[in-house]
Amino acid sequence: MPETSELRRMDLISQNDAERLKLVLDVTSDGIFDWLIPENEIFLSPALKESWGLNENIGGQASIDYWKSRIHQDHRDMVFSQLQKHLDGKGPFNVDYLFLTKLGAYRWFNSRSIVIFNDRGKPLRMVCSVHDIDNHKKAEELIRNLTHQLIKSQEIERRKISWELHDRVAQDLSEATIECELLMKNHLLPLEIRQHISTISEMLLTTLMVVRDLSYELKPPGLEKLDLVGTLHEYCRQFSEKYGINVTFRFGEINELRLSLDMKINLYRLIQEGLNNVRKHANASHATIKLISSSGTISLLIKDNGVGFNLKKQEARSANGTNMGLKNMSERVRLLQGKMDIQSAPGKGTKILIEIPYSKG
Ligand SMILES: Nc1ncnc2c1ncn2[C@@H]1O[C@H](COP(=O)(O)OP(=O)(O)OP(=O)(O)O)[C@@H](O)[C@H]1O
Ligand SMILES: [Mg+2]
Repeated sequence: MPETSELRRMDLISQNDAERLKLVLDVTSDGIFDWLIPENEIFLSPALKESWGLNENIGGQASIDYWKSRIHQDHRDMVFSQLQKHLDGKGPFNVDYLFLTKLGAYRWFNSRSIVIFNDRGKPLRMVCSVHDIDNHKKAEELIRNLTHQLIKSQEIERRKISWELHDRVAQDLSEATIECELLMKNHLLPLEIRQHISTISEMLLTTLMVVRDLSYELKPPGLEKLDLVGTLHEYCRQFSEKYGINVTFRFGEINELRLSLDMKINLYRLIQEGLNNVRKHANASHATIKLISSSGTISLLIKDNGVGFNLKKQEARSANGTNMGLKNMSERVRLLQGKMDIQSAPGKGTKILIEIPYSKG
């Protein structure tokens, strides 16, 4: 039990704290509210009063219910279920939501808070910041749209180049090899010349194979026929065969989803870049691709048992470097509103885990 002088000291401290908080609320240009939970009283910073339109008295009183009533109905449940978890001491409160401003238009806001609990874990007080992040959200959306356009036109360009390579360059090369064969069989030509022609023919055949591979890499042939799993099976099989790296491909519940061509191309490109890195850098004997859908999330795992790498050093290098693969992968994932996590260390192989939210609707 604290002594009287101690109680007096604590009282002074809390008075000082209250005054300090009031001063902060008055001077800050940020939106902040202070909610005394048992009393259900709420104090707003002047900036928040202004942004909620309470200075002009547009028909509301500062209260949690008023705040709730102006949150967009699509976001209300999400905000309040997070808030409840927070008040139960089960997690942070950090939410983005649309809020009806005094001008009658919805704008994006972000709120974070700190809660003070009593020693039995009951919430007593919550101080919450309310930031207008509308411009930031709009800029993000613009960047997302532009990146989407960029990736789309990249795909169109790739398809065009693939078509040119396949239907024109490969065609011409194969005609040239036929010509060479005819010449090689022409015994009127001196042997030495025919041997030269044979060498040229071999070079042409190698180039033909490279061009066919390039054309295949640029345009995954099965995807347009809507078969992602089949195309990936074939891709992994050919990859194993060509580079001698054993690839295990596992999938679950992917066929049941009706994925858009866009989504299929994105998943295919992520796996393609992941495996290309395994081939170029990992010196691995085995790689695993797992593509699984469950509870509204598509999870993709790309794993190898190779040499691994130092993530921090790589990030520092790629900040000014020309390596684009991992950056492109994370850009694609961001565009799909997903998360990408890379785990790697020298000698420990590499694991890339991607999670993309997916709704059937
Ligand atoms: N599976 C892996 N195993 C070992 N190292 C890897 C692996 N994946 C990536 N790395 C390392 O990370 C670096 C960056 O990879 P990233 O795909 O971004 O670029 P890159 O493959 O070097 O070039 P680009 O993909 O642009 O042709 C690589 O240079 C390599 O050092
Ligand atoms: Mg790469």
